[in-house]
Amino acid sequence: MSITLRVNGKAHALDIEPEMPLLWALRDELGMTGTKFGCGVAACGACTVHVDGVAMRSCVTPVEAVDGADITTIEGLAASSGAAEGMLAPLQQAWIEAQVPQCGYCQSGMLMAVSALIAENPQPTDEDIDAAITNVCRCGTYPRVRAAIRSVTAA
Ligand code: FES
Ligand code: FES
Repeated sequence: MSITLRVNGKAHALDIEPEMPLLWALRDELGMTGTKFGCGVAACGACTVHVDGVAMRSCVTPVEAVDGADITTIEGLAASSGAAEGMLAPLQQAWIEAQVPQCGYCQSGMLMAVSALIAENPQPTDEDIDAAITNVCRCGTYPRVRAAIRSVTAA
């Protein structure tokens, strides 16, 4: 079946099964490996991308559900945030300054989840962050994630 995936502003016509999870279309069909596989059952958040600006877990999102939608992956986060070519998004810069990543595996999904939260709620409370960011980090970077969020959302 022909599916059109609009990823980071570029349309890709793919001949794939409609029930293929978006995660595998991104990684295996388009070679965008920044989006990670963790659990495959919507539990960990490693596979988080934006679909029309909303954070979604791509491991349980069939491609037919996002045919024609605007999808943003970690590879397109900087451009979607308005950063100049070759520059990082402010949130990515904050991540570096707060030394958030440890092994790094969960961090692309974490950044996508946090960026969607801040776009919708520029001044999230701790409770807002706890409710919205349910991504799992085996390295326990949660305090640094919060510090990085605070560095870009401080009034
Ligand atoms: S891989 Fe999708 S939520 Fe874990
Ligand atoms: S930085 Fe290692 S799992 Fe999150």
